[in-house]
Amino acid sequence: MSVRSESLFRESIDIFPSGVNSPVRYYGPYPEFIERAHGPYIEDVDGRRYIDYCLGFGPSILGHSPENVVKKLKEKLADGFIYGAPTENESKLGKVIKGAIPSIEKMRFTNSGTEATMHAIRLARAFMKRDIIVKFDGAYHGSHDYVLQKMGSGGLTFGISSSPGIPEQVSSTVVVGKFNDEESVRKIFSTFKGKIAAVIVEPVLGNVGVIPPAGGFLNFLEEQCRQDGSLLIFDEVITGFRFTFGGYQNSIGIKPDITILGKIIGGGLPVGLFGGRSDIMDMIAPSGPVYEGGTFSGNPLTMIAGYETLSELRKKEYREIGAYTEKIASSASDSARKYGIQVQVNNTGPMFTIFFNRNKVDSYDSAAESNSRLFMEFFKTAKDNGIYLPPSQFESNFVSFAHCKNELEKTIEAFEVSFREIKKYL
Ligand SMILES: Cc1ncc(COP(=O)(O)O)c(C=O)c1O
Repeated sequence: MSVRSESLFRESIDIFPSGVNSPVRYYGPYPEFIERAHGPYIEDVDGRRYIDYCLGFGPSILGHSPENVVKKLKEKLADGFIYGAPTENESKLGKVIKGAIPSIEKMRFTNSGTEATMHAIRLARAFMKRDIIVKFDGAYHGSHDYVLQKMGSGGLTFGISSSPGIPEQVSSTVVVGKFNDEESVRKIFSTFKGKIAAVIVEPVLGNVGVIPPAGGFLNFLEEQCRQDGSLLIFDEVITGFRFTFGGYQNSIGIKPDITILGKIIGGGLPVGLFGGRSDIMDMIAPSGPVYEGGTFSGNPLTMIAGYETLSELRKKEYREIGAYTEKIASSASDSARKYGIQVQVNNTGPMFTIFFNRNKVDSYDSAAESNSRLFMEFFKTAKDNGIYLPPSQFESNFVSFAHCKNELEKTIEAFEVSFREIKKYL
């Protein structure tokens, strides 16, 4: 029983659609309301503590409220929260990012990944003097009109394949390809030859559950863009600083024209960033004609949280969170098999998804065939056993540097119990 969560939800449902401020936070009959989070743990308003694999949908790679970040934020709090003028900390964080991701020659901070992809797409269209944008099915690039076609995440969870309310003039400029399918990309480039402003891609799909790129797919995409003169945009809102101290692009040797970052670089405070080639970025106002702006962009507290987070991250061994995730993935597969439950566990780096699916999951279509109903039973049972997962079959779980041996053992045990308990729903 979650007495306080239930009563808080009864209030919030009269205030917010479905009682929440972002659709993926909702699940029935009501979501747990959260009171606090420390390290790898999150605690609800009824005093229950869970090992957290949602991590705020990804930002908290050091675990929640890391000591150094909290200390620096506290030190700065009394100096005011917003000035509407540049600060040194913007450049400090920008320099670290530029050093870690060489394709980002210049950048602009925004307040969310949504804003960053929106501005990046407008910029790409203006620079190229072309209108068509190519995205992939199941990719999520935020909630604005240019990218809400065949989106993953909340769209797939709630069965909304493309949002109404987007004028036909806008959606007709967005072409949706199939991720990991070279043939579909080839067709698009031959149909829209010379008209494609940019291709935007999540290098690892993280919003239909985790789907890594097939070998060579991203290089193929780069080649197609170069041949057509189109720009390549890597949306690294999830992948940035998650696999290595830099972008996913660093590990595969691709230099996108524009990169989007978010989540980790704000250390848990609201953030987004778009950046790339100087000749493209200099088209942004006031040095150029493409408008972009935001009262809260580069806000002082986010800059401090981001800088301190990256300073800590720089010292970490990414291998550790990869190895932790590997162990979770293989033990989850073993436990599921033991109870006759068919799952595919996809994992790469510190990301994993347990797909309740009998077939390999390497595309939007195969992910969509997963048994969401069974996943929700697993989600609730795991929660009752002290594990907090993102409440959708189509999200990635994240492992942080605060997750240690103790949490690993407890998770493996709780997953085993959860698979055993949900067997009755088969
Ligand atoms: C790959 C990707 N791009 C963009 C976004 C949008 O970011 P935000 O929620 O900060 O607007 C998300 C959010 O989850 C994302 O996963």
